Amino acid sequence: MAVFPQLRLRRLRRTEALRVLVRENRFDVGDLIYPMFVVEGKSIKQEISSMPGIFHYSPDQLPAEVEEVAGLKLPAVLLFGIPQNKDETGSSAYQSDGVVQKAIRAIKSTVPELLVITDVCLCEYTSHGHCGIVSNDVIDNDRTLPLLAKMALSHVEAGADIVAPSDMMDGRVKVIRETLDKKGYEHIPILSYAAKYASAFYEPFREAAESTPQFGDRRSYQMDPPNVREALREVDQDIAEGADIIMVKPALAYLDVIRKVHDTFNCPLAAYNVSGEYAMVKAACQQGWLDERQVVLETLTAIKRAGADIILTYHAKDVAQWL
Ligand code: PBG
Repeated sequence: MAVFPQLRLRRLRRTEALRVLVRENRFDVGDLIYPMFVVEGKSIKQEISSMPGIFHYSPDQLPAEVEEVAGLKLPAVLLFGIPQNKDETGSSAYQSDGVVQKAIRAIKSTVPELLVITDVCLCEYTSHGHCGIVSNDVIDNDRTLPLLAKMALSHVEAGADIVAPSDMMDGRVKVIRETLDKKGYEHIPILSYAAKYASAFYEPFREAAESTPQFGDRRSYQMDPPNVREALREVDQDIAEGADIIMVKPALAYLDVIRKVHDTFNCPLAAYNVSGEYAMVKAACQQGWLDERQVVLETLTAIKRAGADIILTYHAKDVAQWL
């Protein structure tokens, strides 16, 4: 076994060409999904204050935006809808002329090859801001399931390529799979937010999506941050129910969970670099305290190194330009 001075690990770091040759992890534009927020109305393109560079779009503004996204060779967008009207059961989530349904049609008629993934969750659509139906101040798992299935189906009927349930109700993947199959959509994949933690890093998103719970918090359905074995049970359950791609969310404070899930399951794995992670980087860069390009590339490389195949990130367009 060679030791110093025969062994010199610095030999392979001397030039960029050598470093490229022995690089263990890299990522590609094709690994990235770009999340977008759609609002009702016309001619709206409004920046979200806690997420500089990210906007609310009305459906008529989407064609120009997604042409740019597709032109950058990004393979997919993830859509979140902010409806005009909210009610107890989130009924605008599953209307055929709902805001996301309109957005899907606008995108598909412009760039049909761009994958449209839709977030399936009621929190943006309910008056109380919770991800499910509320009975006696409790989030009712089983009464929520048929509504999630209805929502997923209406997205697929409007042209969505992949549905992504993010509500954390038990059994949602099963009912969505059954509903899609019954309607002849057995070819549509489910990307399940399998291990989604009750995280403080979602705060800017809740401003963007107007989805802050009006009472209590999400800790009775989203996962408790200290747990990792439980994440494996969540993933196991979702794969058994028919998930095609699984997700760990957030990404940065949960790199160990990504690694563990990657090593345990042979299923494509996504990680969500969430709004709070984005906002922290943006804020520091605006102050001139960090170099945005270097920090973002290092961060996304770390998420890949932890084992993610796919990264959902608000930095996607910037990264596509840098690569
Ligand atoms: C909906 C949902 C949330 C996010 C994605 N889907 C917010 C939440 O659960 O409160 C967060 C995304 C982000 O922070 O970027 N349930």
